Amino acid sequence: MRSRRSCLAVPGSNPRFLEKAQGIGADEVFLDLEDSVAPLAKEGARKNIVAALREGDWSGKTRVVRVNDLGTQWTYRDVIEVVEGAGEFLDCLMLPKVEDPTQVVWLDTLLTQIEKANGLEVGRIGIEAQIESARGLVNVDAIGGSSKRLETLVFGPADFMASINMRTLVVGEQPPGYTEGDAYHYILMRILMAARMHDLQAIDGPYLAIKDLDGYRRVAGRAAALGFDGKWVLHPSQVEAANEVFSPAQEDYDHAELILDAYDYYTTVERRGAVMLGDEMIDEASRKMALVVAAKGRAAGLGRTGTFTPPTP
Ligand code: GLV
Ligand code: MG
Repeated sequence: MRSRRSCLAVPGSNPRFLEKAQGIGADEVFLDLEDSVAPLAKEGARKNIVAALREGDWSGKTRVVRVNDLGTQWTYRDVIEVVEGAGEFLDCLMLPKVEDPTQVVWLDTLLTQIEKANGLEVGRIGIEAQIESARGLVNVDAIGGSSKRLETLVFGPADFMASINMRTLVVGEQPPGYTEGDAYHYILMRILMAARMHDLQAIDGPYLAIKDLDGYRRVAGRAAALGFDGKWVLHPSQVEAANEVFSPAQEDYDHAELILDAYDYYTTVERRGAVMLGDEMIDEASRKMALVVAAKGRAAGLGRTGTFTPPTP
């Protein structure tokens, strides 16, 4: 699985941003043809994006292009121009405002045709689906299972809040007057369940108050705690926070590796299934939890700072 702790939005209509994004340490960049690009700039943005993918240095990053949603007249040309122009330099397409599985199937079919016609490896380009409306959320389980190309489900809070008439204008923050809990909990969990059911990543969307880094960390931390894999970043200043928040802490990573080693030792050498590790009882379920943290730590490039020493008989 690709690392997607930080997913940087880059408007395709701005060549300067397309250039600058290459030097920013985000795990993923998505070059946008949708809502950050004005209707009259869409055609020019396609050309900018093809040139940036072909000529730019995106090494170490997942390269994604967000096309327009299927309610517009732009989507099919977005896909054809970008994939014919730069398909071999592209990892995924992001489809916004997905409302039912047939929309992903449409994109999958179109991609297959373009790949065949242009001698590209069939099936290599993945799909990210944005869930940004009540309809999308209600259909999210089926959307998650709609195509082998799907890699992530992405929450789009701005469009989503508008779709359900949530009474706020500050994207990502709690609606004023709601003091009972987290207004996003159900939505995030719903997306996360569908993602895990289909072995996909779950990505949280943007936090628009880009000057408020504490706010960003708080909201990102909430999604990370639930199990989300990453979050959008709209500004370079949010990248470091995202990479940190979505990587396990060194201490937790070390602890996870220790549990794996200890469990391995006790189950194979001593043939016991539930054992004490210090003050803590570990069993097969602890191993599974440790596997998740260890995998995220390894993907984030963490190294171990301790080792497991078997007890001396
Ligand atoms: C992102 O696309 C959003 O609507 O929040
Ligand atoms: Mg949106």
